[in-house]
Amino acid sequence: MKRIVGICFFALLAGTTLLAAARGLPPEQGEIPGDPIAGARIYDNWILALDKLPPEGNHPLWDNQDSNTRSGVVTWRCAECHGWDYKGVDGAYGPYSNHYTGFTGLGDAVGASQEQVVAWLDGTVNLDHDFLRYTNSPALNDLAAFLRTRQIDTDLIIDPDTGVAFGDRRVGLNIYNDTCAACHGDTGDQINFGNAQNPLYLGDLAVADPWQSLHKIRFGTPTSERMPAYEDEDWSLSMMADVLAYTQTLPRGNPDFAILGTGPVIDVEGQGQIEPIIYGAFAILLVVAISLGWDLYVQRKPAPVKPGKSMRRK
Ligand code: HEC
Ligand code: HEC
Repeated sequence: MKRIVGICFFALLAGTTLLAAARGLPPEQGEIPGDPIAGARIYDNWILALDKLPPEGNHPLWDNQDSNTRSGVVTWRCAECHGWDYKGVDGAYGPYSNHYTGFTGLGDAVGASQEQVVAWLDGTVNLDHDFLRYTNSPALNDLAAFLRTRQIDTDLIIDPDTGVAFGDRRVGLNIYNDTCAACHGDTGDQINFGNAQNPLYLGDLAVADPWQSLHKIRFGTPTSERMPAYEDEDWSLSMMADVLAYTQTLPRGNPDFAILGTGPVIDVEGQGQIEPIIYGAFAILLVVAISLGWDLYVQRKPAPVKPGKSMRRK
């Protein structure tokens, strides 16, 4: 037992070290500058992804509209203005959504040059849209790489009128049980994205905002140690669609919750409750500690010599 735990522990350690080393490697010549998956996480929430303090007040472009009445930190997030489907006014955050701003979609970045997209982000094109002063130039390269190379037309995966995912939920069930259930639980209720009074589970989010769920499944959470990016593990888009379709069938904590429609407004907490995962990590540490302790104990205590046993060992 203790040997297995030891081996697992060192395999984990070696794996993480290798991963860290691989991430530190510079991009090869001729590659697009920037890491598109890091860029997608920055798109999700640059304040968390880059560990920055949120700027004061609303984003300077926010006051050019008054239909979306949110304010503060959320107005600085790319997705609040451009949508989780990257279509802005032409997508899920259109006129019928309570996220409606009328701001543009980002489809033009596909086919644009790296410089053209970065020019939108560093204030060259529009000073009010300058993110360089809050971030840094590698982050803008990552964002541009994401928008140019990993932006997809979500209509291929999600019906834009009903929000229903086109994937095969029977295939998705197996993927879910193999990959997601460890953290989210068999029925998606292990992490509560709402609060104690108004719980929000995976099933709620997958139905209420499938575009955001798809982005999270593809790219993970803004800080990658909470949830991995399945694009990093070379999943096909059809696997993403299958697992999304399955999560839409999971039981809901709050059946009235609708991000885009008229249901009660519950603010999804920026950080889900991850206590179960932390407890899990502590449990693993505890097992390691106990087995180390046992090891010491056994070494110190001279084993009673049973007649014949030492003979057989040889
Ligand atoms: C407060 C709302 C807001 C936020 C936040 C915001 N944008 Fe924009 N974005 C706009 C508006 C409005 C325009 C169009 C500005 C113009 O026409 O001068 C725009 C334009 C763009 C364009 C050019 C689109 C085109 O027409 O080709 C890109 C690319 C872009 N934004 C990316 C981003 C990224 C990436 C983030 C996050 C780091 C972000 N935006 C955050 C409002 C926002
Ligand atoms: C290693 C643990 C882990 C695994 C594996 C994992 N997740 Fe997550 N996931 C999380 C955590 C933690 C969060 C919440 C992060 C936060 O709120 O900051 C999260 C958030 C999400 C969200 C975002 C909800 C929202 O809109 O805010 C979705 C959707 C999601 N996970 C789906 C999945 C699916 C589907 C899978 C399997 C393909 C999966 N997750 C695998 C840990 C995990």
